[in-house]
Amino acid sequence: MKPLKRIGVLTGGGDCPGLNAVIRGIAKPAMAHHGATVVGILDGFEGLVEGRTRELVPRDVSGIVNLGGTILGTSNKGDPFNFPVETPHGVDILDCSDSAIRNYRDWHLDALIAIGGDGTMHIVDKFTDLGLNLVGVPKTIDNDLSATDVTFGYDSAVTVATEAIDRLHTTGSAHHRVMVIEVMGRYAGWIALGSGLAGGADVILIPEIPFRWEKICEHVIKRGKHGSRFSIICVAEGAKSAEGDLVVRQKDSKRTDPIRLGGIGELVGAKINEMTGLETRVTVLGHLQRGGSPTPYDRILATKYGWKAIELAYEMKFGHMVSLRGNEVTSVPVKEAILKLKTVPPDSQIVMAARAVGTSFGD
Ligand code: F6P
Repeated sequence: MKPLKRIGVLTGGGDCPGLNAVIRGIAKPAMAHHGATVVGILDGFEGLVEGRTRELVPRDVSGIVNLGGTILGTSNKGDPFNFPVETPHGVDILDCSDSAIRNYRDWHLDALIAIGGDGTMHIVDKFTDLGLNLVGVPKTIDNDLSATDVTFGYDSAVTVATEAIDRLHTTGSAHHRVMVIEVMGRYAGWIALGSGLAGGADVILIPEIPFRWEKICEHVIKRGKHGSRFSIICVAEGAKSAEGDLVVRQKDSKRTDPIRLGGIGELVGAKINEMTGLETRVTVLGHLQRGGSPTPYDRILATKYGWKAIELAYEMKFGHMVSLRGNEVTSVPVKEAILKLKTVPPDSQIVMAARAVGTSFGD
């Protein structure tokens, strides 16, 4: 077994709370126990293509377990295989994987640990096929990566969204309004479901259960008849009506996922007002769900993920991603992890429990 002397680490895609805790979980044992040099690659795969690095020293990874964001920077526009290049006539999307491979070799990396979501894991898989030594760490507030029970960042996002719902409850009930909150999650409803259940939302709308406008309005009106003159509607940004489409805020070909969702909350608020005459207010929680400190759960999970990623690298288990199964952190081939997105099974226990306590899914 070849000892690994130089280990690269990067954070790719949208940031989320816990990235720094993973970097720390990788760098501390790599430096202290293995005597390795840890090369931080700046701004995700963009930095790998464009050649931006910073060697980490112990001081860099001290005191960062509770720090949000990422000390390395990140980008969701740097897929080396579909890399946006500015030209005089606009932006061309080119395959720049050669530059990334050249940099990896020029920097004498023995392994590279990539912390990221679905887009990052697809890139890890492609570089593994091209012979680079990559290990993946699953990150995303959306919790939509299969082959792991949980991604770090999810608990922090749900905590922020739940607190927001708690706050909307008091103002909503004071004014007898219908309060709509739009949360993130891309094509999966995990954040809406987790925070909606924890915050006691009256209606939860998720992409996996297409809703009907009449059903939402019936539920809200019925609550009023029973003395509850306010309602909380928690909407995932990817939710859609049975006859409608996803609501897209913007398309940007430079992004790894060109579609930026957003706007369904406004639509839900307007429609309920139009159909019931009730006063509605809409809150879009946005990036508050991604910013700030990770919860203790995410700090612990992130540290275990970082430690396990280093173990995998020294075991030469490249092309693998760390993964949580029950209470144990283990590993899975990245190829398996990217087969499909992990969405909410409509017949899962959490959905059944929410229905049992009177939550409507608008279906
Ligand atoms: O994947 C994480 C996420 O926050 C999604 O929930 C959301 O759709 C997207 O990223 C937002 O991306 P951006 O930060 O580029 O607006």
